[in-house]
Amino acid sequence: MFKIVDKQTVGPNLTQYEIQATRIAQARKPGQFVMVRPNEKSERIPLTVARTDPQAGTITLIVQAVGKTTLQMSQMNQGDSFADVAGPMGQPSHIEKFGTVVVVGGGLGTAVVLPQAIALKEAGNKIISIIGARNKELVILEKQLGQVSDELIVTTDDGSYGNKGFVTDALGELINASDKNVDAVYCAGPVIMMKAVSEVTRPKEIFTVVSLNPIMVDGTGMCGGCRVTIGGETKFACVDGPEFDGHQVDYDELMDRLTTYKNFEQRMLDAYQKTHKCKLQR
Ligand code: NAD
Ligand code: FES
Repeated sequence: MFKIVDKQTVGPNLTQYEIQATRIAQARKPGQFVMVRPNEKSERIPLTVARTDPQAGTITLIVQAVGKTTLQMSQMNQGDSFADVAGPMGQPSHIEKFGTVVVVGGGLGTAVVLPQAIALKEAGNKIISIIGARNKELVILEKQLGQVSDELIVTTDDGSYGNKGFVTDALGELINASDKNVDAVYCAGPVIMMKAVSEVTRPKEIFTVVSLNPIMVDGTGMCGGCRVTIGGETKFACVDGPEFDGHQVDYDELMDRLTTYKNFEQRMLDAYQKTHKCKLQR
């Protein structure tokens, strides 16, 4: 069992958990994720490890309550335990000294780029971070990314905080600024955002790393659920990724596959909300 040692609300439907998971905290590298099963009857879901504290033996997960399982998780409290937390899974991020690196986090994807930014900074890079959200309430990890960044830009779609617009607007301005020389871009967020980021960097052939979030079932390369096409070749994001060259990804296929179980997921969520209505409204 994996105890929740701390639980904080960090935005609407956004919860941050500190979980006691000593061996994962000591072994995990930036870019890796864990498969979590909140209780013995629930499905497994992949979650990025936003931070670790190897000394305390804890890992930080940030979860958006969007489906049945994540809603179930949001009902769990400090002192409760998750049935399984398996990991670390996936390949660690590719980290080297590039020069100037821009990390781009969209919404919940900001939790993915924070550990990358820390590792890239430690490797001697200048870090410019761009984080974007629909509105001010949904901006996460601004302080933590600010601490590791030489420059931090916040964008909101509605202009309620920072620059009005998408992360790609800010990225385009940076890349075209005569005084900035961008050597690499690391990004995570909605697939449509990662596709747009890759199109912004493609004309200048800037090395671009994206963190993919396909459907995952086992997280160990056995089920094929996380199949993605990279440069015309089939890869499994859970064991070959989750990070890939952004210019090689078949984003349209990934978006299509992500919608496969949408109706089923909605039915499961509706049924859960119906049976737990009284509890959820308390
Ligand atoms: P969101 O839809 O609020 O978008 C976040 C930001 O992405 C926006 O503020 C905007 O700046 C940018 N963006 C969105 N659409 C864009 C477009 N068409 N062009 C350019 N930029 C665009 O994000 P959210 O609701 O927080 O994110 C949820 C999504 O992120 C889910 O689909 C989830 O699966 C995915 N996610 C991905 C990862 C990952 O590893 N890639 C991790 C966690 C969550
Ligand atoms: Fe099953 Fe990757 S999640 S193969």
